[in-house]
Amino acid sequence: MATKTWHVLELLEWTTAYFEKHNIPNPRLDAEVLLGHLLEKSRLQLYLHFDMPVFQNDLDVFREMIKKRIARTPISYLTNHKEFMSLNFYVDERVLIPRPETEFIVETILKADADTSQSILEIGTGSGIIATSLAVNKPEWDIIATDICKDALAVAEINRDAHDCSERITFLHGDLFDPIKQLESTRRYNWVVSNPPYVMTNDYASLSPDVCNYEPHIALFAGEDGLSIIRALIAEAPNYLQPEGKLIFEIGDTQTEPVKALFQEQSAYKKYQFIKDYAGKDRVVLASLE
Ligand SMILES: C[S@@+](CC[C@H](N)C(=O)[O-])C[C@H]1O[C@@H](n2cnc3c(N)ncnc32)[C@H](O)[C@@H]1O
Repeated sequence: MATKTWHVLELLEWTTAYFEKHNIPNPRLDAEVLLGHLLEKSRLQLYLHFDMPVFQNDLDVFREMIKKRIARTPISYLTNHKEFMSLNFYVDERVLIPRPETEFIVETILKADADTSQSILEIGTGSGIIATSLAVNKPEWDIIATDICKDALAVAEINRDAHDCSERITFLHGDLFDPIKQLESTRRYNWVVSNPPYVMTNDYASLSPDVCNYEPHIALFAGEDGLSIIRALIAEAPNYLQPEGKLIFEIGDTQTEPVKALFQEQSAYKKYQFIKDYAGKDRVVLASLE
């Protein structure tokens, strides 16, 4: 008996129903993104090719992708892709998947200092999205970015090089500001930037399985109160900033009050403000030494 030939539309419908049965959020979207990735077509192109047959070798690969998605592997790790600031980035299990909220950090910096050349120090660069999107938008800026995780820096280098920014971004390995202390120079920066880990250890159980079973825990968790890295950033950044320098970092949506308390302990900052995300929650903190 001849084996069945699958076409794009029925494969999408079958996969959507299967994802629904397994409680995968956004089942149709996930089916389209995975099939589009496999067939190297955009979602729009899939719609224009609903009748296109999908052959056995592709079906075999697709079946494996479906199994992994049912096991809650995040879509971005299956496609090795995430868009950020309208740029394409490579991602895999070595790095946190970039979140749209983090774009507020990049947009705030770009808006604040549109015309003057800036020096940037990023702590915890992960996939390198913040450093790379700043460098793409501002080729004359000088950027140093660090991470405690060597594997993450390997991904950051892939992204930096893919966007032709290798001349403009230096990656350094180490804990917080340690790699900067080890540099010979006593240079000070216009900006210290970070999207640090900020999840409380006890919140582990409340995270979705896509997050807690797959994303690197070093990128998520920051001690019992979720503030261990933020506390160090607020305390140490003034030592690396120019007199008019600024610290900008992302926070969790329940961290406004504890972060205010940390700033009140630090006389170096003259002002700070919270910037809200798309859901209207405090998400980014911008603090200034002048
Ligand atoms: C939330 S992820 C952010 C990654 C990326 N900047 C982004 O926005 O998608 C935090 C990053 O900080 C790094 N990190 C965690 N603890 C660190 C530390 N003590 N010093 C430097 N980097 C650290 C992690 O390895 C991870 O790559």
